Amino acid sequence: MKLNFKQPSLGGKIEVPGDKSISHRSIMFGALAEGKTVIRHFLKGEDCLSTIDCFRKLGVKIEETDEEIIVHGAGWDGLKEPSSILDTGNSGTTTRLMLGILAGRPFHSVMIGDESIARRPMDRVTVPLASMGADIAGRDNGRFTPLSIRGRKLQTTEYKLPVASAQVKSAVIFAALQAEGESVIIEPEATRDHTEKMIEQFGGTVRREEDRIIIQGGQSFKGTDVYVPGDISSAAFFMVAAAIAPNSEIVLENTGLNETRTGIIDVFKQMGADMTVEKTSSEGEEIGTITIRTSNLKGTEISGALIPRLIDEIPVIALLATQAEGDTIIRDAEELKVKETNRIDTVVDELKKLGADIEATDDGMIIRGKSKLHGGSVSSHGDHRIGMVMAIASLITDGEVELDDHEAIAVSYPEFFEHLNQLVK
Ligand code: S3P
Repeated sequence: MKLNFKQPSLGGKIEVPGDKSISHRSIMFGALAEGKTVIRHFLKGEDCLSTIDCFRKLGVKIEETDEEIIVHGAGWDGLKEPSSILDTGNSGTTTRLMLGILAGRPFHSVMIGDESIARRPMDRVTVPLASMGADIAGRDNGRFTPLSIRGRKLQTTEYKLPVASAQVKSAVIFAALQAEGESVIIEPEATRDHTEKMIEQFGGTVRREEDRIIIQGGQSFKGTDVYVPGDISSAAFFMVAAAIAPNSEIVLENTGLNETRTGIIDVFKQMGADMTVEKTSSEGEEIGTITIRTSNLKGTEISGALIPRLIDEIPVIALLATQAEGDTIIRDAEELKVKETNRIDTVVDELKKLGADIEATDDGMIIRGKSKLHGGSVSSHGDHRIGMVMAIASLITDGEVELDDHEAIAVSYPEFFEHLNQLVK
């Protein structure tokens, strides 16, 4: 795809699509609950459609209209042995969270994903699940897909997560919900808490005591109505676009503002961005409006507890940092190496092709600003977020950007180019 924007301004108002993490979980809890769950503003990206497809194969009736997804849950026992392989596509969240659910169901299932999923570590989930009695086999001793799960009765756990991962936490929570008694999960740093919030929304209970999450097994859930807020990880691309393009001001309505996800807002403030954030609702998931204008930015340091709160936004923050005065240093972000691609390498390599002064480190990157970016040929490497970073970069390059494999963007943001064209003046 050729991107030739002639350095435009951005203006206008959009609502980004529904949050990917919350959309996945709404299908999962809807399937496990008794009764009907109606989901509005669901993200119809490829990843979440993979989750729907897997639950249909598990016997759950899921209806799709333009406005809503309706899940007809029949409780934990409503899930049935699938007669075909569960294909999770490109979705790590689907693969890992489903492992926690399937480990405790009384049937056999097999899971496979795409080439990227086949490279991503699954032992971070299969190891704690095995300690709860799960029987999961997979390539290279259960490290990678394809995975075969023989569901069985699970025991409780007290598990300290070795990495700050909401996917691992959530998989263990799903397993703990099926065990008899109380389980404790300890987080090294707080990660997104959408699973915990949704347990409560579906009529269950969960306790948090500092870094400990306490789950009582044997809970059942009741179907409910879910509104999925806009995905701040998708909003991030247009926040960066408006901050770095000249004479711009955009408004992003109904964006999710869950504290565990708003690290990017903290970074924008640290860098001196011209923005306002207004909360409009705080029932369950917090929601609000973000207004962002062209900004004079300065470099910053991003590390520690901030990292899990913006892990998916680091690629686009790297682009933002190329337009800030001074150095931006990102540390403690090794987890980027096991995302859809090795995002330290892909971001550094691709932004360099457009003239950025950026260097990979063992656990992050260093970006030296401010650089004038030029056109060039780049690739998403099949990674949706890398594709969107390069498309946003093309707004400020002084020549054409040729983006290979832009189709990957549909994984999380099928309307991305439509929204981009709408905002470009
Ligand atoms: C997610 C958790 C994060 C994030 C991913 C979605 C989730 O992954 O990068 O895009 O929905 O729980 P990790 O748990 O591997 O950090």
